[in-house]
Amino acid sequence: MNPTLEKLKNQFQLALVAAFGSDYAGVDPMLVSASNPKFGDYQSNAALSLAKQLGKPPRAIAETIIQHLDVSDICETPSVAGPGFINFTIKPAYLEAQLNAIQTDSRLGIPLAKNPKRVVVDFSSPNIAKEMHVGHLRSTIIGDCIARILEFQGEDVLRLNHVGDWGTQFGMLIAYLREVCPEALTTANALDLGDLVAFYKKAKQRFDEDVAFQEIARQEVVKLQAGAEDSRRAWQLLCEQSRREFQVIYDRLDVELTERGESFYNPLLPAVVEDLEKTGLLVEDAGAKCVFLEGFTNKDGQPLPLIVQKSDGGYNYATTDLAALRYRIQQDGAERIIYVTDAGQANHFAGVLQVARKAGWIPDNVEIDHVPFGLVLGEDGKKLKTRSGETVRLKDLLDEAIARARTDLESRLKEENRQESEEFIANVAKVIGISAVKYADLSQNRNSNYIFSYDKMLALQGNTAPYLLYAYVRIQGISRKGDIDFDHLGAEAKIILQEETELVLAKHLLQLSEILSSVEQDLLPNRLCQYLFELSQKFNQFYDRCPVLQAEEPQRRSRLVLCDLTARTLNLGLSLLGISVLYRM
Ligand code: ARG
Repeated sequence: MNPTLEKLKNQFQLALVAAFGSDYAGVDPMLVSASNPKFGDYQSNAALSLAKQLGKPPRAIAETIIQHLDVSDICETPSVAGPGFINFTIKPAYLEAQLNAIQTDSRLGIPLAKNPKRVVVDFSSPNIAKEMHVGHLRSTIIGDCIARILEFQGEDVLRLNHVGDWGTQFGMLIAYLREVCPEALTTANALDLGDLVAFYKKAKQRFDEDVAFQEIARQEVVKLQAGAEDSRRAWQLLCEQSRREFQVIYDRLDVELTERGESFYNPLLPAVVEDLEKTGLLVEDAGAKCVFLEGFTNKDGQPLPLIVQKSDGGYNYATTDLAALRYRIQQDGAERIIYVTDAGQANHFAGVLQVARKAGWIPDNVEIDHVPFGLVLGEDGKKLKTRSGETVRLKDLLDEAIARARTDLESRLKEENRQESEEFIANVAKVIGISAVKYADLSQNRNSNYIFSYDKMLALQGNTAPYLLYAYVRIQGISRKGDIDFDHLGAEAKIILQEETELVLAKHLLQLSEILSSVEQDLLPNRLCQYLFELSQKFNQFYDRCPVLQAEEPQRRSRLVLCDLTARTLNLGLSLLGISVLYRM
């Protein structure tokens, strides 16, 4: 809760006791943000809900509460409205004091976690020998943003890339490459990821059609699992190849991850099954070892199993996740684990969690969140595809965003008759292109599908990255024009709030801390986007109404501080979205 609201709440509870006696000590003041700024900033509905209990009309109760309420340091005198709402309007002096305090704080008044938690964020997690697709892009962007916010809040974050680098597909792939391209298994860089993906598809086809090949592939798996030198080496080369390609995307997105793929947990899988056996949860079904899940049924109403060991002795995706969960809790000391994957894996995680809970592997202090997200759709409303109907390669997608940002920029420069260096153009295009892609993703409620549109995400107007970047640029322009050094506005630079747009902007600036806590809780980055979008709008309204450089002192300096605080808030907020600001664009 924000500190102002907290203070109001405390005072309100004291007033209730003073007015009606100690029986009313725990009553919820029911304070919410006012629905309409006309009514002030906050509103309490408590008088209405107390009417019955007190046997008095709500308006009279509201009046009595106000008589006992001491909030004069925060608000104007509260007023009663309608059937008995109590309205609160924050005093400008109170806002001024708070803004003056955060102005000198490099964290803009956002407190650090008092008891930092060890948090694992499992995100991105593409699969070796397969192309990284838009689902992985979403996971990468959303996961990185969540990790950044938690890190800023002071949590101890471990960013894990749970890459799919293990499993029967490697037997198939190695068997196939031995036949058609043996050098790929012995020489580094013999293939690029595109070739590898093509080989993978052919290997899969061969596997599905050819029984003899299936057997060869299975033997390869056994060899690999047994640690045969040449199989290991082949597997490693395949992984390195993919890894290099993934890294290109991570570099471009400025995302850091620690790779800890499925193979890492391979030695821990037998113990998962053994320990499950001990709990008595394990059931054999047609040779497979599984746990039947509560609340999961197939279309005939039969309970669904979570298979942890197949009849051929092999382990599953779920077994690995069980092992990973245990490792993260026991070895990494995780107190919160966050999985960022498409919504299609919700059942998988629900199943894994249910089994782990029943087995007693999740201590009470450990919080686990699956952070699902929807699909990326093309402008036709169907799954995003290239014009020729293939899956879109992420590198191409990012390149295209940058190229389009560049075209837009060049035409704008021409219109404005500006000459800029190639270096400037390339950098601005890159920042805008990448930010636009990230912001388009983060600004949607992640649970819904979203339509990928270069035109929309690159627009200078609307809830887009360029709009926010532009607000920041506008403020930098003020500093250039007035030759202002925002870092040295001087100790006399104090905020004075008079105009309506100043007050509106000031109140908004003070909400960042609350927004960040809510994202830390609900893991919905779109809230931060919405906050920053509104901040840009409110700043623009202020700047359209209130002269800054032309204002008289002390107002001029006060407004410069408001500009500076806006810029710093935008810079911080955008950096938490993984977006870097521009000084000119
Ligand atoms: N590799 C998986 C995929 O591409 C995502 C892994 C997510 N993390 C996990 N612990 N299962 O769908």
